[in-house]
Amino acid sequence: MIVESERQSRRYGAAVRSATCRHSVIGIFGALTAVCTALQLGAMPMATARAHRPPGPGSVWDSVFTLAQAGRGEITYRATCASCHGDTLGGINDAPALTGPDFHKTHDGNALSSLFNRISNDMPSDNPGSLAGPQVADVVAFLLRYNGYPAGKVELPAAAESLSRIKFLPKP
Ligand code: HEC
Repeated sequence: MIVESERQSRRYGAAVRSATCRHSVIGIFGALTAVCTALQLGAMPMATARAHRPPGPGSVWDSVFTLAQAGRGEITYRATCASCHGDTLGGINDAPALTGPDFHKTHDGNALSSLFNRISNDMPSDNPGSLAGPQVADVVAFLLRYNGYPAGKVELPAAAESLSRIKFLPKP
């Protein structure tokens, strides 16, 4: 965020009143202002504040995918996964269930990135690594919907880094 220096000094004056910022008054002016501004923005529940410090969803209960995305994922699942994992995700022979207690046992408490990476790297087991990132994210969205997690307005990203901040948790 760019602020002209006059407004900045006013802001600076206000910021100095806060204990955290008073502590660093001897710091370089620009850096200090940046720090204070960041701290102030961090405390403000505004869109601009969100841009600086994305809160991000904490778990799969925070509506982390869209219904449209889960719908796309279902098409991919039916075409590339169902032959081994089953139409109702119950698993066939060596291919484990992707729903129910076993699925929860594998994933509860883990970051969603582990499920994403597992599919991305190893599945489909007869052609590993053949799905593009967004396709894997779609399939994960489908798995979440099938397992009873709520859909929302924002699609699940195909980025392991963001997914590492979303925990897979059982019903609280
Ligand atoms: C040719 C059969 C086959 C296909 C197709 C296949 N899988 Fe698998 N999958 C397996 C087998 C066998 C295992 C267990 C052994 C292993 O992990 O490699 C497994 C394991 C998994 C696991 C690990 C279990 C868990 O709960 O984490 C996941 C997730 C998974 N598959 C998802 C998928 C998805 C999603 C697709 C479609 C994109 C897919 N699989 C396609 C055979 C298959």
